[in-house]
Amino acid sequence: MELIGRGRDADVYALDERRVLRRYRQGGPTETEARLMNYLADHDYPVPAVHDVDGTDMVLDRLYGRTMTAMGARAPHRITAFARTLAGLHNRLHTIPAPPWLARVEGFEAGSDDRVLHLDLHPDNVIMTGDGPVVIDWCTARAGEPGLDVASVMVLLSAMRPPVPWWTRALIAAMRTPLLTAFLIAVEHEATDELVRAAIQRRLDDRNTSPEEKRRLRDWSERIA
Ligand SMILES: Nc1ncnc2c1ncn2[C@@H]1O[C@H](COP(=O)(O)OP(=O)(O)O)[C@@H](O)[C@H]1O
Ligand SMILES: [Mg+2]
Repeated sequence: MELIGRGRDADVYALDERRVLRRYRQGGPTETEARLMNYLADHDYPVPAVHDVDGTDMVLDRLYGRTMTAMGARAPHRITAFARTLAGLHNRLHTIPAPPWLARVEGFEAGSDDRVLHLDLHPDNVIMTGDGPVVIDWCTARAGEPGLDVASVMVLLSAMRPPVPWWTRALIAAMRTPLLTAFLIAVEHEATDELVRAAIQRRLDDRNTSPEEKRRLRDWSERIA
């Protein structure tokens, strides 16, 4: 099988022209993730169609296109437009009521108006296809307050430093502030200090977070304490 994508948690293989196999290195089961993707598709939200699920594996529609990060690196002058697209994907997602079977965000009291949150909806999880942007990687999705999704983008863009080659690092560094500024103007829900603190804590608890990132996150958390 041809490996066509690799993220922090999953490997993605081409099965044929139309389908991919997405396999967790550690993780799963994928039943709830697949159920949520079907639920979102029923609400006309752009996700890849799910064909099959088995343990750590999902068979999905194959998407053709680059991630929003890769597009931004190739066309920095379009960064504001990409940021608005990202905000639009948040705004649309946050109109969708959370289904009762979707787990809530840990540490928050049950709300009466919970929405679907992705909690990792950043430019690397958006594929820019010929039919428009499509959102992938739904393993972190939970029910809760939309502002937490917005806070998770703030935290990611401000404090996280992915282990990529220096030239990609430099490109990301140049895009970070204009992207975040335009995103926050266009997104509807507010990331309150409480929600930013919660988003920081989620990153601190994530086993993929590096010591350097943790130091930056703790400094930030102390500043808004
Ligand atoms: N349905 C798909 N069609 C084509 N490529 C995909 C698809 N889903 C994921 N990919 C590729 O695999 C990469 C990692 O996928 P992702 O779901 O984000 O995994 P992770 O959870 O490990 O980040 C993506 O950046 C993309 O290049
Ligand atoms: Mg991903």
